Amino acid sequence: MTFRALQGADLKGKTALVRVDFNVPMDDGEITDDTRLRAALPTIELLSNAGAKVVLLAHFDRPKGKRVPEMSLKPVLPALSKLVGHDVAWADDCIGADTKAVIDALKPGGVALLENLRYHAGEEKNDPAFAAELAKLGDIYVNDAFSAAHRAHASTEGVAKLLPAYPGLSMERELTALDAALGNPQRPVIGIVGGSKVSTKLDLLKNLVTKLDKLAIGGGMANTFLYAQGHDVGASYCEKDLAETAREIIRLAGQSNCKLFLPLDIVVAEQMAAGVPTRVRNLGNVDDHERILDAGPETVARLKRAMGNSKTLIWNGPLGVFEIPPFDKGTVEAAKEAARLVKAGELVAVAGGGDTISALHHAGVADDLTFISTAGGAFLEWMEGKELPGVEALKV
Ligand code: 3PG
Repeated sequence: MTFRALQGADLKGKTALVRVDFNVPMDDGEITDDTRLRAALPTIELLSNAGAKVVLLAHFDRPKGKRVPEMSLKPVLPALSKLVGHDVAWADDCIGADTKAVIDALKPGGVALLENLRYHAGEEKNDPAFAAELAKLGDIYVNDAFSAAHRAHASTEGVAKLLPAYPGLSMERELTALDAALGNPQRPVIGIVGGSKVSTKLDLLKNLVTKLDKLAIGGGMANTFLYAQGHDVGASYCEKDLAETAREIIRLAGQSNCKLFLPLDIVVAEQMAAGVPTRVRNLGNVDDHERILDAGPETVARLKRAMGNSKTLIWNGPLGVFEIPPFDKGTVEAAKEAARLVKAGELVAVAGGGDTISALHHAGVADDLTFISTAGGAFLEWMEGKELPGVEALKV
């Protein structure tokens, strides 16, 4: 696949419509994590330094085609201006004459943020007329929002067909890292998939077992696999109705020569609360009132060895209830080992998905893996082997 490159492109005097993902977590109007704002900075700087006007298109939350004041992007403006290092202009709408006037007033290198795209129903409908309204505002289109690339919306897909379209630097980085993990990886490749529900990760598991050499399943979803194999899971969270699906995934892994790592031992407790007494149990040795809440020490030790024997790791989802110590132990130990192997130059480790990022932060290694994707849904869909419309639209 080929993409246009922003580096070296003729950008001077151009107006660049840049799709960013500023769907940041907010608490009482304050941004609680500005990772997504920072992720957009290299592209903003590149365009601005090259003398282009930078017009930022973004969505916030899901206003469903209406102006919902609580879902305005305006509260992002002060933090963004601070990060950019100068004032960012604001437009109260993302299309129309007033918006054009804000853009016309920008100096070369100036930056403007437009109001929430999703105030218009045409955005999520990928309405060609709305995409054309957006396209009227710029000369080129840049998509730097990998985390919104699973949406075929006007600002991620429609407009890319109407203007010369480029991936932004953060999008480029993301695509390169993901390709190194699953597209064209150094083998052996091991995956870790955790989290509570098999039901939300069926497509992902089915795709991964056909692509990876080894796959470790952890978290609550491992209980469903253990149950499917006839092990007692006591009072643990378990999707019993998915036992046959779990068996099908085990069969598929066998047919595809993917070695499946299910827990060998587990940590159980009677309550899911911080500091409660815990026990390590062998499989099948769980009392009726006990809950499986973390991977056991043998399971983690085997996973660490398997990582050591691999060249590439792709990770989505924690191994236990990491938010509640001591059930964070398995996840933290595995994360630290991944970080150690990356530092030693022995492993390429790529991780992504909401809970995974928090778990890696919790383990103190969020900056030590090869790459952490800021995307939630888009990362999962990409791991499921699906085409992302926002990425497809950038291909030339
Ligand atoms: C995200 O936060 O994952 C992206 O911004 C996409 O948001 P959405 O799920 O509302 O489309």
